Amino acid sequence: MKIEMELNGRPVAHEIAPGGNLLSVLREIGQFSVKLGCETGDCGSCTVLLDGEPVNSCVVAAARAHGHQITTLEGLLGDPLMKELQHEMVVKGAVQCGYCSPGMLISLYAHFKASGDLSEHALREALTGNLCRCTGYVKQLEAAQTVADNRQNESGGAS
Ligand code: FES
Ligand code: FES
Repeated sequence: MKIEMELNGRPVAHEIAPGGNLLSVLREIGQFSVKLGCETGDCGSCTVLLDGEPVNSCVVAAARAHGHQITTLEGLLGDPLMKELQHEMVVKGAVQCGYCSPGMLISLYAHFKASGDLSEHALREALTGNLCRCTGYVKQLEAAQTVADNRQNESGGAS
């Protein structure tokens, strides 16, 4: 079966195996930011955007992408918000092995795009589906908080 989707703003057609997941398809076509972790929907390392919503691509059937927009980290590298998130993650020391980082960045990006809730609770919630075995989450939260503070300062302190 062939699927056609919009990947990072460009039309892509790809032959898929019956029952295959979106994670495998994305890696087959070179989206190596999408990491294979648990493959059970628990770790978040395979997070991508499906029509703007974060999903664990390992538990999304590849066929579901047909006719939809998929966004991976590769497609957001020039985006100002993503650049800011990446910068703060590096500055705060939130990247050690880096395996979880693309998924965390996608989850935070989706949160900041969709929600005006800049509270620490909301930032924690945004990252609940992304596991990290290296850093203990504090540094990622610090990075997210700095981006949230920047947003708040830009809007004159209103939240
Ligand atoms: S590999 Fe998809 S959630 Fe872990
Ligand atoms: S930095 Fe290694 S798993 Fe998160």
